[in-house]
Amino acid sequence: MTSADPARRLVPVVRLAPAKVNLTLAVVGRRPDGFHALHSVFIPVDLADRLSLAPGPPHAGDSLHVTGFDPGPPAENLVLRAITVAREAARGPWLAAGGLGDPPPLAARLEKRIPVAGGLGGGSSDAAAALDGALEAWGVALDPDARLALAARLGSDVPFFLAAGPALVEGRGERVTPLPWLRDAEGAAPDRPALLLVTPGIGVATPGVFAAYAAGARTIGGAARLASEHLAQELRAGLRVRDLLARASVLAAANDLVPAAAIVAPELVGFRRALIRRLGRPVGQSGSGPTHWALYAAYDEAAEAAERLRAAASAGELPSPGTRPVVVEAARILAGPGGPAAATGGEPR
Ligand code: C5P
Repeated sequence: MTSADPARRLVPVVRLAPAKVNLTLAVVGRRPDGFHALHSVFIPVDLADRLSLAPGPPHAGDSLHVTGFDPGPPAENLVLRAITVAREAARGPWLAAGGLGDPPPLAARLEKRIPVAGGLGGGSSDAAAALDGALEAWGVALDPDARLALAARLGSDVPFFLAAGPALVEGRGERVTPLPWLRDAEGAAPDRPALLLVTPGIGVATPGVFAAYAAGARTIGGAARLASEHLAQELRAGLRVRDLLARASVLAAANDLVPAAAIVAPELVGFRRALIRRLGRPVGQSGSGPTHWALYAAYDEAAEAAERLRAAASAGELPSPGTRPVVVEAARILAGPGGPAAATGGEPR
């Protein structure tokens, strides 16, 4: 089912585009298309980019203005590609509903707060927000399968961001199954587990990490897969907060891309060790890196740890690979619509 209402006045749209963290990431095979098949538990967090889309000047093309972290050349930005892809899909319903020409140009503004090329899915989340936001700005509704197919065209991580909650991500990234979040996490926000996110100042490009994996930078044994399958099962069965916290060390070790990321950026090995020593708790890598995460019982604890780590970094006490300063953030987990904490799952900030 698609629909459009071109007669309606075009409205500016604002979307928050949350980051994701991979609690587990198992590579379970190589696909005929060259991509790797994954089994990964993704969770959205409240560290978010902010995207606004407004009608642009009638005869100009789409435009993009970015503030905050520099995502690179606009022509390669997934926001503009997402708007283009959305327009192609919207053209039919737009004309059928009496619209003239193409759905009109959009002026996008993106405030980037998620570190770029950090393993947090920021560019993919921006793309999902742009896809959805453009359709809304034009008043065009596409059915969920069509939206998912468009998202998958934009990148492997993009479909997850349409799910708006914790999910099991499989295939190349296109199979997204929402997962319930912790069954006893619906209480007041301070009592819910939160994450500390630490991004060293090196961009690690995902294709290079998968190429290193394909070239043999991997551990054997399938531990990440077991941990990932187990976590997904346990969340479905109703995992409690204390059980998640008790599994932190298993989850922190459950990322098959760690050895490959260490080939691409060898500094990550010492960086991770220094974080484990300083935080005194397990530290995992999100996606292809270089962002690392640590789990805390409550947001306030994560925020205090973030303060201490920032102080250590500015005192030069934390190894700081790369040329840019390390980024340290405390983040709440967005429980999303799939789980019992839906109503109190929070909003991206
Ligand atoms: O889909 P996306 O553009 O994010 O992927 C970037 C690159 O990462 C791909 O070109 C591919 O080399 C690699 N990749 C992969 N398997 C995945 C996701 C990404 O091999 N599931």
